[in-house]
Amino acid sequence: MCGIVGYCGKRNASEIIYKGLKQLEYRGYDSAGIAVVSDGTVSAVKKQGRVANIEAEAKALRGNVGIGHTRWATHGKPSDENAHPHSSGKFTLVHNGIIENYDELKARYLCGEKFSSDTDSEVIVKLLDKFYNGDILATVKKVTDMLKGSYALVIICADFDWLVVTKRANPAIIGYGEDGNFAASDAPALAGYCKEITVLQDGDFALLTADGVSIFDCNLQGVIRERLINLAEPASLELGDCPYYMLKEIREVPASVERTYLAYVSVESRIKRILKDVKRVIVTGCGTAYNSGLIAKRYIECFASIPAEAEIAGEFRYKNPIITGDTIVIAVSQSGETADTVEAAKLARSMGGKVIAVTNAPYSELTRQADAVVPVEAGSEICVAATKSYTGQITALYLLANTIAGINSTEAVRRLSVMPELCNKMLECKGIDAIADMCARSSGVYFLGRDIDYAVALEGSLKLKEVSYVPSEGYPAGELKHGTLALMDIKAVAVVIITNEQLAGKSENAVEQVLSRRGKVAVISNVDGIEKRLQGRAEVIKIPECDKYLSPLLTAVAVQLLAYKTALLLERDPDKPRNLAKSVTVE
Ligand code: F6R
Repeated sequence: MCGIVGYCGKRNASEIIYKGLKQLEYRGYDSAGIAVVSDGTVSAVKKQGRVANIEAEAKALRGNVGIGHTRWATHGKPSDENAHPHSSGKFTLVHNGIIENYDELKARYLCGEKFSSDTDSEVIVKLLDKFYNGDILATVKKVTDMLKGSYALVIICADFDWLVVTKRANPAIIGYGEDGNFAASDAPALAGYCKEITVLQDGDFALLTADGVSIFDCNLQGVIRERLINLAEPASLELGDCPYYMLKEIREVPASVERTYLAYVSVESRIKRILKDVKRVIVTGCGTAYNSGLIAKRYIECFASIPAEAEIAGEFRYKNPIITGDTIVIAVSQSGETADTVEAAKLARSMGGKVIAVTNAPYSELTRQADAVVPVEAGSEICVAATKSYTGQITALYLLANTIAGINSTEAVRRLSVMPELCNKMLECKGIDAIADMCARSSGVYFLGRDIDYAVALEGSLKLKEVSYVPSEGYPAGELKHGTLALMDIKAVAVVIITNEQLAGKSENAVEQVLSRRGKVAVISNVDGIEKRLQGRAEVIKIPECDKYLSPLLTAVAVQLLAYKTALLLERDPDKPRNLAKSVTVE
């Protein structure tokens, strides 16, 4: 959700910043811009659209200090004018976040000022210019104290060779390079430049020069913040022989599953301590992370016989949740930054519950709000649509559910250990192209399933609509006849997931109901004899036999490939779906 990069050092800033913005483009791609300082002058380029749109002009910018931004529009439509950086007088800044009281601040302090954008961010730079008193940190503090909302800011001033970075409720990291210092929203921007990073805390101010970094707390007292290893590797950001990150990341599903179960042993004993006396579990998250939470609910109830609920984080926060000391809240988030999930975790803790974070981002805000962290070892996920992180989450949640049930991880890991190979087989599975073709031509795609297959159906639907823009719904197979069947006609497609032998007959009823309304059907199943029964009437993807609770790891690969292939047939960019961004750090 907006990517920001800053550099202050001995090299030409714009080249480094441009590369950093390319790595952060998953955070937003409505517009991009770069500004550099040289000999008391700020030069800038900014344009609507992708980062590549500014490449030529960015190359011409000269200066050793600079800032850049890739935008996901909130206040003000995507346009050249609303692109960051924004300037006023000597100051120029980039902003990630939302200033809720910008109108009020405008009316109170900036009457008569001429604005060149519709953004909330321009108000901040105007305020800096207005209140600057020669003491930069004091001025930035004065202005940020006036702001309501969330921000990560990187600020430059024409008079100086430095950057100021500050944040509240949006991520900002500092990177230590060999020939300069960096600021960024996320570690991938610094891969290859910085081996070490510092994660700023809310209210911190960092002053970066070419030679050093000073960090101050919210009272402007100097503080020492931990230096951490930058885990983002340049190699992990390469596309290799894949045309898109989405395909690359689906291909990394087996590795994500394997690395996640191998990592669990290092946290198991801490998790056991936290789980002592647990009576109730709430799993929360947004989007795909919520969908993996639905699977976790089933795991926990089946393995541990403890009541478990799955709640969408944005709903959980506002429904007066009942949390007691024996409630465990499992907060699931790939990025560890999603505002609703982080706030849900904070709320749960403030009410006396214990929070376990299940995340792919070890230094994220969510990990700081949690009593314990279960790592998802998916590696950097660049495609906006979550793929390998979803299967990593399912793996982590399966292990966690076993621990809640008092089962040692050795047995759970043994059952998981065959899954990477089976996921690999799924990557080779035939027949997806034909179903993608059906979906691309359809008026709507309905993903159906029962029990755990229903949870994957929801994820299949989310993935398909997100990357292909084909209207889609996920539905419990048994509910079809209670309303949704009205939508079935010759242009509709049902993708039915059937992995539960006991429920197969009932799910096949749904298949027949769709076929008899002339809808097209695809089935993803491991049930014996299903191909024969549906021969010539439906497309069938056969998945390998596996532990019945682990089938989502295989059906997930099928629905992810289906979404990817449908997007390509419709000439969509699966990595950067319209209107979306990864890491939703605003509410
Ligand atoms: C869908 C997708 C989103 C995210 C959601 C939560 O493909 O990626 O639905 O799952 O925005 O993000 P995280 O997991 O970072 O909290």
